[in-house]
Amino acid sequence: MPYRWRRTVVTLFAGYGFGKDHDEERGHLNSLIDVRTTKRVNEATPGTCYSCKGADTPRLWAQMGMAEFDGTAFSQLTPQIQNPIGCANCHVEYYFSGEGKLLTLPSPRGTRVEDIAACYQELGFSDWQSPSDGAALAKMQHPEYELYTAGSAHYTAGVSCADCHMPYTRDGAAKFSTHNIAGPLLNANVACATCHTNVSYVTARVKDIQAQVRSTMDAAEDALVAASGAIGQAGAAQGAAGRWGTARRPRRLAWPARAFHRIPVFDRTRMKW
Ligand code: HEC
Ligand code: HEC
Ligand code: HEC
Repeated sequence: MPYRWRRTVVTLFAGYGFGKDHDEERGHLNSLIDVRTTKRVNEATPGTCYSCKGADTPRLWAQMGMAEFDGTAFSQLTPQIQNPIGCANCHVEYYFSGEGKLLTLPSPRGTRVEDIAACYQELGFSDWQSPSDGAALAKMQHPEYELYTAGSAHYTAGVSCADCHMPYTRDGAAKFSTHNIAGPLLNANVACATCHTNVSYVTARVKDIQAQVRSTMDAAEDALVAASGAIGQAGAAQGAAGRWGTARRPRRLAWPARAFHRIPVFDRTRMKW
């Protein structure tokens, strides 16, 4: 289902790369084309951005070492990264730490979004500063692994990413796990029916959960845009940055599009579908 970007996102990401360009993700085959054509990449972009985009990165990490890889300019690595990728190595939240832009995972405390936010708060880390209200902001990228492992029903039941995203398929007599990794709703009769007998019930639950999250997100974005405008105006009128420090501090942008992975834990004995 295409993700509906709203005007609010342009304001919320103002001053950061995602304010210039953000697209819906596509299949793994497109990862190199997409990362090379996005307006977010420029001469200052570190090689670190290739970490999750190509099958050549493990070879280069071994040859160059992680620190040198991350410290090399994106454009210098381009000729060596040719093969597009073939779960939790890439579908996680991360940040670039220090001058060397070292790829670092933030969640030693736990994998809930609150744990990640607490980690950034403690480190005093931010990705950029909002030009409209001066707040130091951090953008969480794509914490699919974290949302999934933070107590979701499927994780607790021992279901893996591949069970849904790479279900078994047949070609004549051969049975193999599909490598056409996409949203499982495109193939729910295979992806969900391995375990669920009532596929229309479970897919309707996904739609309900997504609609609820979407409307909460819309309301939260509208409130943030209004708050950002009010803080900016009040700051300009006062001309005193320090006074507004507290109002600015708590804004952290999470990216809850993967709401489906947060289905709370259910009592297994109640599972009827
Ligand atoms: C080497 C890094 C890497 C690994 C490993 C990886 N992915 Fe991805 N994945 C990506 C990137 C990058 C994209 C976005 C591609 C684009 O839009 O250019 C993506 C996109 C996706 C999408 C969206 C596809 C679509 O058509 O909308 C799904 C679903 C997905 N990955 C699931 C998985 C699953 C499940 C696994 C493990 C079996 C996995 N990925 C392993 C990097 C990775
Ligand atoms: C119980 C089944 C299930 C499991 C297990 C599961 N997912 Fe998903 N995943 C889904 C569904 C359903 C969606 C929503 C698809 C949609 O909206 O069309 C989704 C969405 C996604 C997307 C966004 C795809 C897009 O097209 O926007 C990514 C990326 C992803 N999952 C990665 C993962 C990773 C990584 C794991 C393991 C840590 C995982 N998933 C485990 C069912 C599952
Ligand atoms: C490998 C087995 C497996 C697969 C594949 C699987 N599920 Fe599940 N699902 C479970 C189990 C087990 C539970 C119940 C967990 C519990 O009760 O502790 C569950 C629970 C659920 C629930 C919660 C039910 C409720 O009351 O709302 C939903 C929704 C759901 N699954 C949707 C899906 C969808 C959609 C897919 C396909 C994209 C899928 N599942 C694929 C095993 C699976």
